[in-house]
Amino acid sequence: MSSQSSYLEIDTNLLPKHIAVIMDGNGRWAKARGKARMFGHKAGVDAVRKTVSAANRLGIGVLTLFAFSSENWRRPEEEVSLLMELFVTVLGREVKRLHKTGVKLKVIGDTTRFSKSLQDKIASAEALTANNTGLVLNVAANYGGQWDILQAVQTLAGQVERGEMTPQQLTEADISAHLTTASLPNVDLMIRTSGECRISNFMLWQTAYAELYFTEQFWPDFDEVSLSEAIAWYVSRERRFGCAGEQIQAMLQVEK
Ligand code: FPP
Repeated sequence: MSSQSSYLEIDTNLLPKHIAVIMDGNGRWAKARGKARMFGHKAGVDAVRKTVSAANRLGIGVLTLFAFSSENWRRPEEEVSLLMELFVTVLGREVKRLHKTGVKLKVIGDTTRFSKSLQDKIASAEALTANNTGLVLNVAANYGGQWDILQAVQTLAGQVERGEMTPQQLTEADISAHLTTASLPNVDLMIRTSGECRISNFMLWQTAYAELYFTEQFWPDFDEVSLSEAIAWYVSRERRFGCAGEQIQAMLQVEK
């Protein structure tokens, strides 16, 4: 059944069900201000807060944020360890508010390489928010799209090995069902900030039919307005429904 904002008459069925974001440009944002890269990552957290809150208010089903890729371990050791500290701090600080606003948090990726304290924080944040019915927030951490497909295939290969199915019985649906995003819809809209036009090994399977939106903005400058512009672009592209960014911005204001 379709529902509409009574104020704007935007059919909420037209909104993307799953938005994935490659948050890029923190380092360049900081450099442009003569600051260290960490300054950009901290500013990036504010952009995360604004984006999560706006997506939740708009009624987006799933938001997946690329926080740390499998390849990011190659960064200078100091930046990696400061980023890890930032994740721990942010999780501790934000989880209550996420819970209060009905957000269901999930960390997707190979978290086994993280410190015990970060793994514990992740587990308790996921447990606290597990029954929430608002926005599903996936934080992709130590995530790689190829890794995601590989770990699904490894599980399925085990089933074949045990004689539970033949290789010929394997379907695309089986792979989808064993990805870290199992049971969630595929990505409708993928956003990448900072002018780079690459997928960078993010959600390779799940973005098979996604609309790809690239913006020049650096991630710390991304906010509610940026999100509404991306959604308006998606809506007009996907459905040929001439919805303007201002309308969705107004919708955000109305539902605040
Ligand atoms: C990419 O910018 C950003 C990252 C690798 C880290 C993203 C992390 C955050 C936004 C902070 C916390 C997030 C959560 C969900 C708690 P870059 O460093 O590659 O920038 P550059 O390309 O300009 O160097």
